[in-house]
Amino acid sequence: MSQELSSLTAVITGGASGIGAAIATKLQAMGANIAVLDLNPENLPEGQLGFKCNVSDDASVKAAIDGTVAAFGGVDIVVNNAGIGAIGTVEDNDDAEWARVWDINVVGMVRVSRAAMPHLRKSTGAAIVNTCSIAATAGLPARALYSATKGAVLSLTQAMAADHLREGIRVNCVNPGTADTPWIGRLMDQADDPVAERAALNARQPHGRLVSADEVSGAVAYLASPLSGSTTGTSIAVDGGMQALRLRPVGQ
Ligand SMILES: NC(=O)c1ccc[n+]([C@@H]2O[C@H](COP(=O)([O-])OP(=O)(O)OC[C@H]3O[C@@H](n4cnc5c(N)ncnc54)[C@H](O)[C@@H]3O)[C@@H](O)[C@H]2O)c1
Repeated sequence: MSQELSSLTAVITGGASGIGAAIATKLQAMGANIAVLDLNPENLPEGQLGFKCNVSDDASVKAAIDGTVAAFGGVDIVVNNAGIGAIGTVEDNDDAEWARVWDINVVGMVRVSRAAMPHLRKSTGAAIVNTCSIAATAGLPARALYSATKGAVLSLTQAMAADHLREGIRVNCVNPGTADTPWIGRLMDQADDPVAERAALNARQPHGRLVSADEVSGAVAYLASPLSGSTTGTSIAVDGGMQALRLRPVGQ
């Protein structure tokens, strides 16, 4: 993939850190104009346009999309990547926390897609890629709220793909396994034994290590580009086999 996205404009939410930052760098290398919508859009790589935006605030989303169109003339690709975590079983998070995480992880994608839709309709290479998760397709312990939001992202991806297919807008998602990002770094730092926590997370994935943000960005780049022109309403697992494979323990 070299310059497949030249003359296209990509909006990436949560593009200032981790998976989103890797996506922004990858799409920029493929020739796209890059608009990063993030709570903290400081210190972006040269050439990327940052907008201070909270995906749970409709006015800031609209302003950022308007700003992107003013700068680049349109929007062709939306990567709905901003998301936050939540730890616990159904007993552990109160209603306010359910509302807060849902508002960012699910309704945030709705707000950004809605604001971008009139511009995507004018594009000849329109694509939406949502960052979903292995949590949408596998039961993980102590992730009830987070998993519910990612299950919703998977269903939303399919529904949007159906709604907008005939308008020439493809909608897909990627399902990363545990990825080596600042978010996971923070989680490991909070563990009683961070080294043991990292080892356990590595071991949970059949390929024996965390997924890299760059590996996720490769799947997003494919789904965002005309290379996947007949692919819509689907998900790509980037999880080292965690969802699909059942290996025997090493040495047995
Ligand atoms: N890291 C993993 O193991 C993993 C696995 C599967 C899926 N994901 C998903 O990948 C996405 C990115 O995760 P990451 O690990 O790169 O996280 P990260 O914390 O490193 O980066 C998230 C970025 O999103 C921004 N953000 C957070 N809330 C926002 C809001 N309300 N409005 C705008 N921007 C906001 C943050 O400022 C940050 O720059 C999330 O949707 C997450 O659910 C992560």
